[in-house]
Amino acid sequence: MKIAHVIGARPQFIKAATISRELKNYPHISEVLIHTGQHYDTNMSDIFFKQLHIPEPHYNLEVGSASHGKQTGLMLERIEKVLIDEQPDWLITYGDTNSTVAGSLAAAKLHIPSAHVEAGLRSYNRKMPEEINRIATDHISDLLFAPTQNAMKILDKEGLGTIARFSGDVMYDSILFYSALVNEAHRPPILRKISKYYLATIHRPENTDNPQRLQNIFNVFSELDLPVILPLHPRTQKLVNSIKYSDNLHILDPVGYLEIIYLLKHSTKVLTDSGGLQKEAYFMKKPCITLRDQTEWIETLDGNWNFIVAANKQKIMEKIGVTEFGPLHNAFGDGHAGRRIIQDILNYPATNRGESES
Ligand code: UD1
Ligand code: UDP
Repeated sequence: MKIAHVIGARPQFIKAATISRELKNYPHISEVLIHTGQHYDTNMSDIFFKQLHIPEPHYNLEVGSASHGKQTGLMLERIEKVLIDEQPDWLITYGDTNSTVAGSLAAAKLHIPSAHVEAGLRSYNRKMPEEINRIATDHISDLLFAPTQNAMKILDKEGLGTIARFSGDVMYDSILFYSALVNEAHRPPILRKISKYYLATIHRPENTDNPQRLQNIFNVFSELDLPVILPLHPRTQKLVNSIKYSDNLHILDPVGYLEIIYLLKHSTKVLTDSGGLQKEAYFMKKPCITLRDQTEWIETLDGNWNFIVAANKQKIMEKIGVTEFGPLHNAFGDGHAGRRIIQDILNYPATNRGESES
């Protein structure tokens, strides 16, 4: 049996690492890793393959950055060629990026069965490119792996219940596995001069594409009661020269996964617009302030562990002061999502593959 996965953006390397590790337990399955090249800087791509021991991609399609249509179109064309050459039995896609939708569409057109990991997430904001990518991917995939029961309910409501499986969250598997590998070698040098701090990340278009909104966020970071450490995504880095901020804000280049876990573990709270980091904050019992208008990860909102504040200074200041927290719930599975996903793929009746419409 041959399983291919399409990956391309930072969070997908972290998700695929779990599946790739699990596949090592199945010697009869051969794995084909297809990297679209959506992310290409060393610290947005290579570092994850090295740190997480993900096999070298068999293909790097070197699509790079472009407008949504062009980037997705190039991916579609190049993934299709690889799938025709490789003829995998299954294609796995992850999350909600342009690489995700391109992979699942290429497979659907070739009648290659595809499985979507992290299915059933919705923000109900169709201006987000990710919302379009995940809706499209869920509706053209053959098997859907939901990280939470809420995601299962959403898939059921959209008529996808029969092909949906609750797997738990592969990012929960990842943090459990990799946080055990984090040690002092992963302590970023900034922590020589700072010990108490907030950890922040910013990269969503809703924050970066509006200069005033981005400036508002940097104003807040400049004024918070603790220093803010901000490993900055290249999308936002390109805008920093036109932004004013104080020396309360410490901007770093993007860091590796083991370094971000180190930073998270030692932080006081997290301020972010990242989907992955909101969950990781929850997994690591760190309160989170989400600088967005919605979240897909509604489970994290319980017990004051996460607040949606957009870029509203008053709300950020109010919520960062919250000190009472409720119990944490284990909504993200048991840390064996990867195992369940491979087993469910292997158990999926061959007669259903590629025929879920009939
Ligand atoms: C993409 C995903 C987003 C995900 C994020 C994870 C889509 C539509 N968006 O957003 O869902 O949260 O990845 O990080 O797929 N750039 C570099 N070097 C790189 C990569 C990007 O300089 O290695 C810069 C380029 O200027 C590029 C910009 O970042 O134009 C945005 O990159 P892109 O991959 O288009 O979107 P992300 O914002 O990374
Ligand atoms: N991350 C990382 N280094 C960084 C910033 C983030 O390794 O400098 C990790 C983060 O811990 C999470 C993933 O990247 O596992 C999230 O990626 P990102 O925020 O880019 O995308 P999103 O989850 O919002 O799609």
